[in-house]
Amino acid sequence: MRPGDIYEEVKDLEHLRTKVLGRPLLITEDTASTNDDAKLLADENLLGHGAVLLSRTQSRGKGRLGRRWASPRGGVFMSIILQPDLPPAQVPGLSLAVGYSVARALRESFDLDAKIKWPNDVLVSGRKICGVLCEMKAEQDRVHYVVAGIGVNANLRPDDFPPEVKDTATSLAAELGHNVDQDLVVASILNYFEPVYEEYVQRGLTDLAGHITSVAAYLGERVVVHNRTLGPGSQGPEAARLHATGSVSPQIVSTETGQEGVFVGIDESGRLLLDMDGVTKAFDVGDVSLRSV
Ligand code: ATP
Ligand code: BTN
Repeated sequence: MRPGDIYEEVKDLEHLRTKVLGRPLLITEDTASTNDDAKLLADENLLGHGAVLLSRTQSRGKGRLGRRWASPRGGVFMSIILQPDLPPAQVPGLSLAVGYSVARALRESFDLDAKIKWPNDVLVSGRKICGVLCEMKAEQDRVHYVVAGIGVNANLRPDDFPPEVKDTATSLAAELGHNVDQDLVVASILNYFEPVYEEYVQRGLTDLAGHITSVAAYLGERVVVHNRTLGPGSQGPEAARLHATGSVSPQIVSTETGQEGVFVGIDESGRLLLDMDGVTKAFDVGDVSLRSV
């Protein structure tokens, strides 16, 4: 069975005001990973720019670096297919724009103090409420597509999370004390992301960087960044793709040594800026993981 077979089109999602994103919007009850489905369907040109896949649960939801994304019923699991006219090197910054749009949507539609944790998480009360995984297919100088995967813990109770995530995760229901309309979660993310995406394609992070910094977690605080480097032999397009997507690879190794400094902002290239003893150092998306001290 092809992934397209299990999805049904949702024609009139309440609250959706977009022109392009979520047109079409396809939904299923259960799949392995909406990102994997979106890549297959984009590969076969069955879906193109703006299409969104949504699943009520995922059996193999994935995060960065091959990590698992817990995807029990009650969460929102969606993937947006994008075909930006951008050089591949500019795609990594897009995940910041997605995370920023989710944070804005949760702030405006649900009155939550949502923050973006550079480069791909959204936190509320210091806990992870959403993760973003962008995967790209590209040639040297041309992007075929980007799949922007978004997992939001909407109507999840603490017991719904696996034990290893329980202490670091939260949900909309846990923060608000009541369940939310999952369609509103989907619609408000797409509503906010549509103009942000346009802005990103036109002008990169030139203006967005300041807005993103204003809702960044740990701003002005001491943080530590852990390096992730590509291991020996990982040259060429695959290494470039992994760098660009932050995607799964046994060749990516984490070093335990961290570099510590005060988080002072995000620059127009999407880099994390740390003040290290009076010297500002920039870290690229894909190179490091951020932790609060
Ligand atoms: P990084 O700073 O590198 O992004 P991270 O720990 O946030 O570090 P990610 O790859 O972004 O890592 O996210 C995957 C991690 O998120 C998993 O290893 C797990 O700890 C956590 N996680 C998995 N499912 C959920 C969920 N539904 N809600 C919150 N956190 C989750
Ligand atoms: C992360 O924090 O590492 C990113 C998590 C991304 C999860 C979403 S859920 C929808 C889409 N499908 C997946 O398999 N992953 C993304």
